[in-house]
Amino acid sequence: MTTPATHGATAAGPADSPTGGPARGPAGASLLVRAATGRPGPYPPVWFMRQAGRSLPEYRALREGSSMLDACRTPDLITEITLQPVRRHGVDAAIFFSDIVVPLVATGVGVDIVPGVGPVVDEPIRDRAAVERLRPLTPDDVPYITEAVRTLTRELGSTPLIGFAGAPFTLASYLVEGGPSRDHARTKALMHDDPSLWHALLERIGGIARTYLAVQIDAGASAVQLFDSWAGALSLADYTEFVLPHSRAVLEPLAGSVPRIHFGVGTGELLVAMRGAGADVVGVDWRVSLDEAARRLGPGAIVQGNLDPALLSASWPVVERAVRRVVAQGRAADGHIFNLGHGVPPDTDPEVLTRIVELVHSLA
Ligand code: CP3
Repeated sequence: MTTPATHGATAAGPADSPTGGPARGPAGASLLVRAATGRPGPYPPVWFMRQAGRSLPEYRALREGSSMLDACRTPDLITEITLQPVRRHGVDAAIFFSDIVVPLVATGVGVDIVPGVGPVVDEPIRDRAAVERLRPLTPDDVPYITEAVRTLTRELGSTPLIGFAGAPFTLASYLVEGGPSRDHARTKALMHDDPSLWHALLERIGGIARTYLAVQIDAGASAVQLFDSWAGALSLADYTEFVLPHSRAVLEPLAGSVPRIHFGVGTGELLVAMRGAGADVVGVDWRVSLDEAARRLGPGAIVQGNLDPALLSASWPVVERAVRRVVAQGRAADGHIFNLGHGVPPDTDPEVLTRIVELVHSLA
């Protein structure tokens, strides 16, 4: 498909970094953009996947009475929820409050987000007719995204806003399985049984993800993250044949616009391939240490991660030791963005997150 908004994203601003990325207003000189472009500051920038969410009482209060999808389509709520963790924790980046299924819903796919479960699809997509019913996303489908990103970049000033999308494989898994899956069996079966249908499906979803990212970049996002959360379920061979070309088709057209972060869980064996998809920064979960990840990635590696989220419920001395280890191991890379190895668990004491930010900032 075509990429209606991509031209704007790739044409923005003068090049001022080794990757050709533009300075995007006051956030262009942020620690996050510097680390992502191989010009690290005195300490790693820190943010947390799922920093906006149920771990915050102010989030739970604001979400009362609205469904997740309605919240994701209401600019005032998006803006306020995105800002909450920045105010509370002093993190070095905001992550846009949305969900990976929002652009699918915007194109008419029947999906709901069920509390405690995740995305659930009305009619799973498993045949050619269903794939052909998927239509491209246009910026006009998501005016609330453009409005919220514009307001946020104004309000955030020098704090960068990270836009995001779900990667083709992870989105395909929800669409084919009909909901969350442990083994992704139907998805893998479709991939191998009917490669031509599989590639048609991923091409369409990839187009939607690419446009969704371009809309956020055009409205002012300083970086983007492509979440391939479940890619770690695949062998390197299957990833390379069935997924990589489609992730690349999302990320490559955005080269030279803003830093591109690419993350998945359990992807230690896929790190090099995922970088090859067009990632400036490779997200690493807690299973592979950052110095080992940097070694696997080779020269110029820029990594994000990777404190085990389970440790957030351990005693502070344990957390502190683990944070110091992550920061020390991250120094093996040419740039490091401190994060968890996956999202903040909903029962996390938010005070621990604030202390981690303070600790990382003290490790100059
Ligand atoms: O703070 C942030 O990180 C930004 C917001 C964000 C959400 N979803 C909000 C959300 C982001 C980046 C996502 C991405 C997302 N959504 C991913 C990729 C990241 C990952 O976690 O691997 C995936 C796989 C999804 C699908 C999804 N949506 C799941 C698994 C869930 C959790 C279901 C549950 O209730 O436990 C959701 C719902 C969701 N998305 C919530 C939030 C804050 C919880 C909904 C609520 O508060 O009621």
